[in-house]
Amino acid sequence: MSDDLPARFRTLWDEIAPVGRDADSGGYLRYALTEPEQELRAWFRAQAERRAMPVTEDGNGNLFAHWGDPEAPAAVLTGSHFDSVPHGGAYDGPLGIVSAFLAVDELRAAGVTPGRPLVLGAFVEEEGARFGVPCLGSRLLTGALSAERAAGLRDAAGVSFAEALGDRPAGARPELLGRFGAFVELHVEQGRALADTDAPVAVASAIWPHGRWRFDVVGEGNHAGTTRMADRRDPMLTYAFTVLAANKEARLRGAHATVGRVAVEPNATNAIPSKVTGWLDARAADPETLAGLVDAVRGKLAERARRDGTTVTVTEESVTPVVAFDGGLADRLATLLDAPVLATGAGHDAGVLAAYLPTAMLFVRNPTGVSHSPAEAATDDDCAAGVRALARALEELTCR
Ligand code: GLV
Ligand code: MN
Ligand code: MN
Repeated sequence: MSDDLPARFRTLWDEIAPVGRDADSGGYLRYALTEPEQELRAWFRAQAERRAMPVTEDGNGNLFAHWGDPEAPAAVLTGSHFDSVPHGGAYDGPLGIVSAFLAVDELRAAGVTPGRPLVLGAFVEEEGARFGVPCLGSRLLTGALSAERAAGLRDAAGVSFAEALGDRPAGARPELLGRFGAFVELHVEQGRALADTDAPVAVASAIWPHGRWRFDVVGEGNHAGTTRMADRRDPMLTYAFTVLAANKEARLRGAHATVGRVAVEPNATNAIPSKVTGWLDARAADPETLAGLVDAVRGKLAERARRDGTTVTVTEESVTPVVAFDGGLADRLATLLDAPVLATGAGHDAGVLAAYLPTAMLFVRNPTGVSHSPAEAATDDDCAAGVRALARALEELTCR
């Protein structure tokens, strides 16, 4: 494996670094199927063509570049996603795709001829930042989410997923999925477990169960100056109390609860809101704790709504069950790479695919430990170590 890999990583990385970058925040606005993400999809096709890898699309917006016969069985899949959260970091997603192309280069430079096809994937709408459901592309491909439901999901401007895709999504593709024998997703670490260690790369053991719940709180819009305090039916109070309650209930259980998104109607300084919608992101180490947390938050919300004279509707937007990655595969890769094994609270397409085929993840050290923020980081040397680890893992899985 070559010594100039950090420099080659930087060269390839710099090709995509400006795409969708917000000059003020330094973060990325790469929402699925919008212009910056389409530019990255075109870049994916160009990189594949440069490596003589034909590209296929699965009718759901997921792209695949093939080294070997696209129809052959037992292919090893690697890749990640291009889309970002609002003002997200550079590495979450794209690192797995850029590393996959560089891993192909490493394998070819070393004269490796895979005994099984190698497929590079770019999954659509992993973050759910545009259409609300995370891992939309992998859920569609596997059939975990129906084409009907996905087609009708709408972004903030009212554009449906089907309209953005240019067609009704194809939905489950069992024959395509059945051709994959394993999936390895490389991803930037989204915590500081590796930051103070000597290990640039880790192997994933599990993903916490997690989900998103939307709560719509309806009250009475009215004048901020003339409505007596006792006469108000203010949904902002119900919302605010719920945010605090979610934080407390999560702390009590060693779980995570976040309300990172809110919509206020009419959103005027001098008007009591008529409606406040919040989105709860809840995660826990096990399903029972997660269910207990969400029930407790629902209970607090209902109780507070009674006091405020508001009405609430809670809608489950997505739930991802606990994921235990294939233990044999994780152990095999941890031994091969001499890497530590970590669990994570972050969701990934690998978490969806793990229910259908042997799946593993590699995490690349993040010195800030921050993610879903412009402060997300990884050094070029660590990214190169990630590429080397991925190449070794792919060689192991395609050749043995
Ligand atoms: C995806 O990054 C998630 O964990 O929400
Ligand atoms: Mn993410
Ligand atoms: Mn990601």
